[in-house]
Amino acid sequence: MQRSVIIDCDPGVDDCIALLAALGAPEQIDLRAICVVAGNVPVDTCARNARGVLALAGREDIPVYSGCDRPMQVDPVFAEHIHGASGLGDAKLPESTVTPATLGAVDYLCETLGQAEPASITLVITGPMTNFATALQRDPNIVEAVREVVIMGGASVEGGNITPHAEFNIFADPDAAAIVLASACPTVLIGLDATLQIRCTPPRMSELEASSHPACHAAAEMIAHVNRIYGEVYGAEGAALHDPCTIGYLLAPELYDLVSVSAKVDCSGGERRGQTVITPAQSSGLQWVTGLRDGPLFDLLVRHMERV
Ligand code: RIB
Ligand code: CA
Repeated sequence: MQRSVIIDCDPGVDDCIALLAALGAPEQIDLRAICVVAGNVPVDTCARNARGVLALAGREDIPVYSGCDRPMQVDPVFAEHIHGASGLGDAKLPESTVTPATLGAVDYLCETLGQAEPASITLVITGPMTNFATALQRDPNIVEAVREVVIMGGASVEGGNITPHAEFNIFADPDAAAIVLASACPTVLIGLDATLQIRCTPPRMSELEASSHPACHAAAEMIAHVNRIYGEVYGAEGAALHDPCTIGYLLAPELYDLVSVSAKVDCSGGERRGQTVITPAQSSGLQWVTGLRDGPLFDLLVRHMERV
């Protein structure tokens, strides 16, 4: 059954791959809009990259709304050292011919969710949660319109990737994460415990590179950059496909293992800034992904990118 979906992201290499997979699944995902937020790269770069993905996919009918250019309280951190200054690694995306929307992402979220039917919209967040947290603070009633929030963020058993304790999306705006994870929205949180299980190994890279499909080829160019950056860390395992795991969940939740939990975010600003403490909890409304089937998931993502 088709979901009405808004993706809030900070493209970024893996965000772009998540967007491409979503665009290849129009029967399941009616992508209403893309909201962008400062994260991997500055928000204007994120907006340009989101529009570039839409131009590549021939879907410039989908609007891109630019959101918060900095976190709610903490000082901004970026990840250009991983994604490159362009946010696309070595890939070049088509320049969009569409005039950018003037409405801000927070205004868009408040207006759209404020007018939507109850439990009718799925929100996918693959960057810092600043936009949605700001919208929730402005109008708490928007939770009524949310069917489910599917978030890439957090870490528990795996430890952090930007510090030993914190995953980047949470570290980048811990206060926003605390607000969103405390909301009444049914939420699925996909952290490093799960996303580090799906890697772009050399055989998978070869499959993408050999593809005649532009989306797969662009994905290979983007990931190759991250693999080089992380060569000594990831080694032969390759870069993790963090953000596409959110789309995989929408398309094939049976590939995921989930547990009901509570989550506490460290907003202290100390060395454990952005740490997520995940604790089993019944009927919390928050589910934590403990594992996934990486082979079928990778194949699913490629199959949908080939349809773009
Ligand atoms: O920790 C991984 C997350 O941080 C991903 O969303 C990646 O795009 C970066 O934003
Ligand atoms: Ca991201």
